[in-house]
Amino acid sequence: MSTRVMRVVVGGLALVVAAGCASMGGKKMTAEEAIDARKALMKEQGAAWKNVQDKTKAGQITALVPDAEKLVSTSKEIPKLFPEGSLDPQKSNAKPEIWQKRAEFDAAAKNLETWSVKLRDTAKTGNAEQTQAVVKDFGRQACGTCHQPFRVPPKQP
Ligand code: HEC
Repeated sequence: MSTRVMRVVVGGLALVVAAGCASMGGKKMTAEEAIDARKALMKEQGAAWKNVQDKTKAGQITALVPDAEKLVSTSKEIPKLFPEGSLDPQKSNAKPEIWQKRAEFDAAAKNLETWSVKLRDTAKTGNAEQTQAVVKDFGRQACGTCHQPFRVPPKQP
């Protein structure tokens, strides 16, 4: 049931009602809350993805299952953390294209879910070779296909 996200448009207000998300209390997130929440979620994804790569290198294949599972669940949270009107170039690297091509953005989140499920299920078998093959393409295919069109590239230090 947690995968079911319903969009209800009431009097011009788009409320994103997510089953199992009691913390939102039915209120609409402010732009600032959404930006903070999605940056925190992306950081968690960054950490999980680093764990996946480290464990793959170390040959700890089944040990990366929880990290892949983490990405399965975070991927489902992505769409609701980008509500309409949460564009703020001062605080956020989200591009306006997210809201211009909403269906493509949501599909990119779904694509991450599909890849994460594939990574998790492959890692569960303990097969190092097959897991490495998924990991090899994951960064580009699962993360990059959304970052490339929809995120302002981070400045190089
Ligand atoms: C559906 C689109 C999408 C997918 C898939 C996605 N990201 Fe992101 N990511 C974004 C957007 C948009 C931002 C910029 C958010 C902002 O600044 O408001 C971002 C920002 C980030 C950041 C910077 C967070 C910060 O501190 O500001 C990290 C790290 C990150 N993503 C990691 C990942 C990793 C790792 C994956 C794959 C496992 C991934 N992302 C998949 C859209 C996506």
